[in-house]
Amino acid sequence: MLINKILVVGSGAREHAIVKAIDRSKHRNEIYCAASSFNPGISELSNELIILDINNPDIIVKYANEKNISLCIIGPENPLSNGVADALSNDGVKVVGPKKELAMLETSKAFTRDLLNEYKIPGSPIYSRFKNLKGVSTFLKKLGENYVVKYDGLAGGKGVKVSGEHLHSHSEAIDYCNFLIKQNNEFVIEEKFIGEEFSLMSFCDGKTLKHMPVVQDHKRAYEGDTGPNTGGMGTYTDKDHSLPFLNKKDLKEARDINIATSKAIKNKCGKGFKGVLYGGFMATSSGVKLIEYNARFGDPEAMNVLSLLESDFVEICIAIAEGTLNEIDVSFQKKATVCKYAVPEGYPDNPVKGEPIDVSSIDNSDTLFFASVDYKNASLVESGSRTVAVIGVANSIAEAETIAEKEISSIKGPLFHRSDIGKKSLIQKRIDHMMLLR
Ligand code: AMP
Ligand code: GLY
Repeated sequence: MLINKILVVGSGAREHAIVKAIDRSKHRNEIYCAASSFNPGISELSNELIILDINNPDIIVKYANEKNISLCIIGPENPLSNGVADALSNDGVKVVGPKKELAMLETSKAFTRDLLNEYKIPGSPIYSRFKNLKGVSTFLKKLGENYVVKYDGLAGGKGVKVSGEHLHSHSEAIDYCNFLIKQNNEFVIEEKFIGEEFSLMSFCDGKTLKHMPVVQDHKRAYEGDTGPNTGGMGTYTDKDHSLPFLNKKDLKEARDINIATSKAIKNKCGKGFKGVLYGGFMATSSGVKLIEYNARFGDPEAMNVLSLLESDFVEICIAIAEGTLNEIDVSFQKKATVCKYAVPEGYPDNPVKGEPIDVSSIDNSDTLFFASVDYKNASLVESGSRTVAVIGVANSIAEAETIAEKEISSIKGPLFHRSDIGKKSLIQKRIDHMMLLR
């Protein structure tokens, strides 16, 4: 049997989940990882983990050539926005991850809003693009109390300011616009939606989409959805691949938006999106709305869905690259999952760094994913961002939460996590919120 030489770009918990999924494949695979930092979990499962500039297409192509790579899976958004997929694809490598132009779905909020507008795809807010203050005040008046100001580029979630949360008056909104203008940044102002957020990721080969179970993330750092925004503190999915606050119509609307967007971008750019199309949606009183697109797996969402994936991940990746996703079956276990991150004390604003952590009390190492860690004096240390994640997989969200909570609580070191994620009371709050809105 032929050996697949597979390169994974990125070295966080999402990429650890990707590597675990490759490791479960029935095919003979060799795994190589182009990493931005050391990841002991990936290192254990791969033939080689090498630290290099993952955002430099030439460096990645050179490494791929050296290792005779046939398939590459790109984890994070920055390599995509720097054209790593284009360079590898031009070099004959099969790539899971869109080309730079198509990754604009994530890298430019204005591009995405314009695309959905042009192709009359439902779920869009009222919005307008700006380069300077001309028209800002009038547009804010039109939106009234509910507005969002978004920097038009990659900012790790920090470029978005929402009324009532980060901005408390039109004058504060204008101050933020001025801050962006001073840095020569373009921005989008749009209507603020009220509802409950969820992520729908779809494998996409340019023509066919295969949808994954929907996931809910928790962006706020502290219990009860308080505190600063983070990359995501934890996520859950339900046994039926929906979420307790969603109905069938919501799911269909979100799927239809992903399908319509994949068609629209192919039409617009003349080439198909090959990778993971990740819609960030909000269920509202007037249907499902699109908050944003990402051009990659979510983190932590990847841990939830890949832990449930029954089909062979390598076969899915090859089908994405070759445009044959319609020929294969993509199925997920009918189980619930809860994923929780442990993050450094002080995260995200002032995280402790370099302090030792101990994961040896974890019951089942299959549940563990390493993220921002390193080795110092032969001990595992936290390096400032989200540190490690665990997943519970069970027949109900409650049981999955019990597993995740037990495992994450066993990790020692100056860390914290959100114990409320996946708990009944928080989920009931989401259900009640949607009931009230509908
Ligand atoms: P984004 O980077 O676009 O995902 O925005 C970060 C967060 O800002 C989202 O997860 C939402 O919580 C919030 N957000 C962005 N756009 C909107 C919107 N139009 N209405 C309400 N909330 C939004
Ligand atoms: N979980 C949010 C993201 O991956 O962007």
